[in-house]
Amino acid sequence: MDSRLTSLAECIWLFKLLFIVTATVTGLEVSIDVNPTAVEFGGSIEMNCSTTCPKPTINMEHKAGVNFIRTKGSTWYKDYFPSVQQWDLTPACSVMCISELKEKTANVTVYSK
Ligand SMILES: *[C@@H]1O[C@H](CO)[C@@H](O)[C@H](O)[C@H]1NC(C)=O
Ligand SMILES: *[C@@H]1O[C@H](CO)[C@@H](O)[C@H](O)[C@H]1NC(C)=O
Repeated sequence: MDSRLTSLAECIWLFKLLFIVTATVTGLEVSIDVNPTAVEFGGSIEMNCSTTCPKPTINMEHKAGVNFIRTKGSTWYKDYFPSVQQWDLTPACSVMCISELKEKTANVTVYSK
């Protein structure tokens, strides 16, 4: 009984370890989809940061004073900018997955008419 309990506990522990290692090694992917990739000043644009991590902590940041509407899924954040009033939009998205942190930034071209 005792030894069975021990081996069960060991087994669970091993599974946990395997899970953590797999989750760390399988490669955490973070991507930012920008649509459209270039926007006219005053135009609208959306950015979707998504990850392969099943249970991520997502943090997408923009320059101060930028107005956007955020929608969220469990593995993505989508920010919609109804009217771009900045020349420089550089979204940065960081994803924390278990103990791994990955950050991605995107360049967005803002042009004048
Ligand atoms: C954002 O991207 C993810 C991954 O491609 C997708 O599953 C999700 O539906 C997208 N969200 C929106 C609101 O388009
Ligand atoms: C983004 O734009 C800046 C300024 O133009 C440039 O220095 C940088 O290399 C660009 N980064 C990417 C990933 O294109």
